[in-house]
Amino acid sequence: MYDDNATLLGVKKEIDETKQGEVFYYDPPIEGLKKFYIESYGCAMNFSDSEIVASILASAGYGPTRDMESADLILVNTCSIREKAEDNVRQRLTIFNKLKRQKPEVLIGVLGCMAERLKSKLLEQEKLVDIVVGPDAYRDLPNLLAKADDGDKGINVLLSREETYADISPLRLDSNGVIAYISIMRGCDNMCSFCVVPYTRGRERSRDAYSIVAEAKDLFDRGFREVTLLGQNVDSYKWSSPDETEHVNFAQLLERVALVHPDLRIRFSTSHPKDITNDVLYTIANYENICDYIHLPVQSGNSRILSLMNRTYDRDWYMGRVNAIKEIIPDCAISSDIITGFCTETEEDHQDTLSIIEWADFSMSYMFSYSERPGTPAARKLKDDVPEIIKKRRLSEIVEKQRHTGLLHNLKDVGKTFKVLIEGDSKKSDQEFKGRNSQNKMINFPKVNGFRPGNYVMVHVTSTTGGSLKGNIVT
Ligand code: 5AD
Ligand code: SF4
Repeated sequence: MYDDNATLLGVKKEIDETKQGEVFYYDPPIEGLKKFYIESYGCAMNFSDSEIVASILASAGYGPTRDMESADLILVNTCSIREKAEDNVRQRLTIFNKLKRQKPEVLIGVLGCMAERLKSKLLEQEKLVDIVVGPDAYRDLPNLLAKADDGDKGINVLLSREETYADISPLRLDSNGVIAYISIMRGCDNMCSFCVVPYTRGRERSRDAYSIVAEAKDLFDRGFREVTLLGQNVDSYKWSSPDETEHVNFAQLLERVALVHPDLRIRFSTSHPKDITNDVLYTIANYENICDYIHLPVQSGNSRILSLMNRTYDRDWYMGRVNAIKEIIPDCAISSDIITGFCTETEEDHQDTLSIIEWADFSMSYMFSYSERPGTPAARKLKDDVPEIIKKRRLSEIVEKQRHTGLLHNLKDVGKTFKVLIEGDSKKSDQEFKGRNSQNKMINFPKVNGFRPGNYVMVHVTSTTGGSLKGNIVT
């Protein structure tokens, strides 16, 4: 659901290989407070975690700043999913280190998946890192910071079976005030053979359903109009009340959040083809405010490769789920994650991936070439035997196939009218708004007096540039 530099969902969505992590800030910082600066890399979950971290830091007397140079504390919330993601962070650490040489009292901290994966190595190798904190240990930040202020480097990378940060109200720092993430679960029990996440984020656990609904309600009352429910595998959400009298699955959670208000849009990510039930699909179909969009990573179109990946479904099963989606939610857009060049992948296997992109009619995909991660089942048992040059060529063929499929998908929208939630000014012009339709397509359209971000408008689509749609407000 994500790339190494930017997040999948919401405003920070574009894949841009050159882009640095997002910076969270308040401007101007509140007088007298110590200031922290935070960059986030990786998935939407990491961005959501940075908002939890910000909230914990605020209660410890730190205010956020966007100006790295004036910060007392520099944090980087890291991703380990591919080698490149880690390389990006190392580069950033070098820059932070330079700053620390001029200003030794600044504290530097590594958070997130790299902290968990590399643990004390980060303190030993990156000499100027002061604290290392894993995804389940953010509550310990104030304590670690106090010690670091006294010169003691600190590390807490304990993973937890219970931590969901359910009681922490995230500080929405880099927000447009319209869309927000809500973390509904943490960790992952899936054990896909290529993936490091089960090792960096620990066991799967679901957050109290009442705290999720309360967070959605609070956001709606504060003017937000769209929430994205986040988890590594939302379809396996399962929460039971402490007395075991109440059990909530993902379909039921979706319904509860949808009932907060008809004007609150609901999105969710990521779904797993093995776990997405017809109940979930019927719930989406039953509520207008649950968006007709499912991110359903296929990873590969070939059954043998899927088995080596330990995805626990095959090509036919995936196609069956896509057919069910199209039958139950006819207007649903489907997007995907794809890995090319996985261990032993042949040209024929690769053709199966190309053909499933077209068959499933993905509106878009995040596409990657396989990057072996130390400690994963694939690294232990399989040989990373597809040469880099072949991986590159296959990736470019996949990107081209998806570009073409996405363009045809967008062309089908030209001439149609969609309900769009205005998110803000378009990237290109302050005379234009941008917003998305239910299918998660970004649409740019000229501003009309009387409308502002957070309003719903009907937009008639007149053209597409490939990546996005263009249109006009109609009444
Ligand atoms: N190499 C390449 N891509 C990977 N992903 C996860 N692990 C790897 C890896 N080792 C991709 C998958 C996943 C997305 C978040 O990142 O497609 O769905
Ligand atoms: Fe997110 Fe961690 Fe996975 Fe990166 S490795 S995508 S940060 S969960």
